[in-house]
Order: sequence, then C-alpha cells, then structure tokens
Amino acid sequence: MATAAELAVRLSDASVRKAWDVYSAFDWPESLTPDAEWYMAPELVSIYGTDAWASLSETEQKRLSFYEIVNFFSFVLLGERPLIEGMTNRMYRKASLGAVTEYLHHFVDEENKHMIMFSTFCNKYAGKVYPEKKILLPREYAKGEEDIAFFCKVLIVEELGDYYNLAMMGDTRINPLVAKINKVHHVDEARHLAFGREWLSELAEQHLAGWNDDERAVFQKWLAAYLASCWGDFYNPAVYKDAGVEDAYGVRKMALAHPACREMRERVSKKVVDYFVDVNLLDEAPAL
Ligand SMILES: [Fe+2]
Ligand SMILES: [Fe+2]
Repeated sequence: MATAAELAVRLSDASVRKAWDVYSAFDWPESLTPDAEWYMAPELVSIYGTDAWASLSETEQKRLSFYEIVNFFSFVLLGERPLIEGMTNRMYRKASLGAVTEYLHHFVDEENKHMIMFSTFCNKYAGKVYPEKKILLPREYAKGEEDIAFFCKVLIVEELGDYYNLAMMGDTRINPLVAKINKVHHVDEARHLAFGREWLSELAEQHLAGWNDDERAVFQKWLAAYLASCWGDFYNPAVYKDAGVEDAYGVRKMALAHPACREMRERVSKKVVDYFVDVNLLDEAPAL
C-alpha cells in the first residue's frame, strides 16, 4: 500500500492530466423550470419515504427536488470553503513538504473550481446559496488532534457528497446539467478521497497512541456530534418553505426522527463511519 506521500505524486500527475476549465466545462441555460423535471433523484430527497413526501403531487415533488439539489450543492460548497483554508494553512509545513504540498495545491485549485461551479448553479437558478447551520465551538486539542479533526471534517463532507454524486451522475431521470455537475465533482473527489483517507490514517497512527482515555473519549464524542450536525443541514426548513411544503419546521423535526430518514443517514454515512472505526478514530458507529 502506497504512503500518502507516494500517493501524492501519482495524484498530482492525474490532476494535471485531468485538469479542466470551470468557465468552459458547462453550458448554463438561461433558466431552469423547477416544476418540470427531477433535479435531486427522488430517493435522495431528504423526506423520501415519509407521509409528507407521499402527500405531495409529482409536480410538488419535482419542485422540492430542485430546492434540495440547491441545498446539497450549498452544503458541499460551504464545506469546501474552510477546507481550502485548512489545506492552505497546512502547505509548506515540515510534515507536508515536497509531494504532499504539491498535491495540496491541486486540492485547493480543484476545490476552488468546485465552489465556482456550485455557486454558479445556486445563484443563477435559485438566487442564493443556503447558509449552513453548523456551530463550531472553539476547544482545546490533544497533540495532533487539530489536524486529525480537520481531516475528519474534510472526509465527512467529501464522503457524504460523493455518495450523492455517484448516485446521480449517471441518472437519466434528472436534469442533465445537474447529472454532469455530479460527474465532474466525483472525478476530482475520487482523488481527494484517496489522499484524505491515507493521510488521515497516517495521522491517526502517529498520534492516537499518545492520547489518554479522556482525550480519546472527548474526540469521539466530538466526531459523532460533528457528523450528526452535518446531517442537520440536509433537513433545511428554508428548502421546504421555498418549495411550498407546509409546516417547514415540523417537517424537519419529523424527518430527523423518522426511521426511513435515519436509515438513509446511516446508509449514506456507512462508508466514512466504517473507515473511522477501521483507523480507530471511533469505537463504534454513532446513532444518527
Ligand atoms: Fe469538491
Ligand atoms: Fe474535494
């Protein structure tokens, strides 16, 4: 198995070979018609499988799927913003000199293009990017924990995002521009994920043995809470309101408690949760 530094050389080559231009990659139609097409695949809509979903007409479901894709693109965009900041801060450090820093330049370049791509869609067709609601509290870190927490956050936004990208990029039912954005994102993210998994597992191996039981417990509690708070952004009352769904806050509350929605959260999170357990960052899968 290649180390992260070895992987970084190969991934940088691939980033150069597959470089794309965000300004010419897409034809952006002047407007979209939210009621007439699927935008988010219906099974991925946050309230799919609930009575609230079943009670909507197909036109209303399609309209909701439009605002849900805008919310999903907003979630990924706003997750990528601090990611760029953190990657930039980690360049040219002793531990990342050479190939890793070179790859971080590609990472930042690609994430910046993703943000332009997502914000163009959101602003052009919905007139907004939905703000995120996650609250990040400042806290003390054990040795190495700040870096580990940072790369956990990177991996969570990228793994959750990639589940949706993969599920939608070949879906012929949904709007073709949306399918293409998912595809373009997935191709870059496959490299980011390969690097992030390896780099984080090396950080975990390097630092975890030095943490005491308390420090391990505090970290695991934070990681589970962070993952749950990410999911909170998927049940956005502003989305329900914009789509004309009645009782937007009630619908959010219902969905967070509904077994079909919980099953979906667990299914989508499984890959990243299994990874965290595998590299000893979690003892077990958290309740979501
Ligand atoms: Fe991205
Ligand atoms: Fe990424």
